[in-house]
Amino acid sequence: MNLEQLEQKAKESIALVQDIQGLEKWRIQYLGRKSALSLFFNSLSKLSLQERKKQGEKANKIRKILTNLYSSKKTELEKDVFESNKGSSSLLDITQPGDKKTKGHLHPLTLITRDIVASFEKMGFSIIEGPEIETEYYNFDALNIPADHPAREMWDTLWIKPKTKNQKSKMLLRTHTSPMQVRYMEKNQPPFRIIVPGRCFRYEATDASHEIQFYQIEGLMVGEDINLSNFKAIISEIIKDIFKHKVSVRFRPSFFPFVSPGVEVDIKQEIKGDQSNDKWLEIMGAGMVHPDLFKRVGYENNRWQGFAFGLGIERVAMIKYKINDIRLFFNPDIRFLEQF
Ligand code: PHE
Repeated sequence: MNLEQLEQKAKESIALVQDIQGLEKWRIQYLGRKSALSLFFNSLSKLSLQERKKQGEKANKIRKILTNLYSSKKTELEKDVFESNKGSSSLLDITQPGDKKTKGHLHPLTLITRDIVASFEKMGFSIIEGPEIETEYYNFDALNIPADHPAREMWDTLWIKPKTKNQKSKMLLRTHTSPMQVRYMEKNQPPFRIIVPGRCFRYEATDASHEIQFYQIEGLMVGEDINLSNFKAIISEIIKDIFKHKVSVRFRPSFFPFVSPGVEVDIKQEIKGDQSNDKWLEIMGAGMVHPDLFKRVGYENNRWQGFAFGLGIERVAMIKYKINDIRLFFNPDIRFLEQF
């Protein structure tokens, strides 16, 4: 084995190498475990000590030269690759600004619910939750809506198949959050003020303003001298807080068997220079709690009075964000969700 010749050959052939793959082949041929140089090192053991030292030094020198050749060629080739790939995506360019990762966020209904709940909290209301699966009693009878009452038709109901034939109370998906009025009053004495946010269900054909599921916030404030003016003042304040601009509030007489008198609450936005919102829009039913309910939960006679309301969360969101179809809230269309 002539080391000088080997060095010469290696130098000549590396000059011809064009790319990283070619360089790897070169490395295996000249520096790999089966290369002439490695075999030469292996054969050193057969030589005399003196000869081994001399040849060993020489071979080491050549190995160093070849290793250096290899690494400078490698740097050179890598630089070429980088230059020719500039602007293409196949190579990482750490000087480029990074890709913006899209982050998920809360659903618009969650956002608006949190806003509304926070406004009520500021006014001292407690947040209560109740079951989505209700008994017929709390959803209807306890609210002055007995089975044969025509008002039942106001709430098209999804009934749940009874487990056994002689199940005591029929079960249903609550059609409103009002059952929590009675549930709460059975366990708590006035004075108090609560809100109950929650999901409700109705057996209805869906269209732009009706969904089979929707959210309400029930409110109930009971004390010794609570009246409708208190309600109007509180609700006006809350609405202003949610919409962040002036909103007019008006009451229209209405009927719900568990309040007397009953009203429907409309709002109208007052945005300077914007006439497009110049319409009254209904956002909730409300009224003074019917004395029957106080009696039913065993409150002291003629001592308490209070107001109750059921606010439609989608209604508020639709007005605030100018959404024209309630079905969008329950549709996973990312283009809709991304607006919030
Ligand atoms: N529960 C009624 C509904 O869903 C709204 C309401 C609540 C009305 C409280 C009066 C008082 O339509």
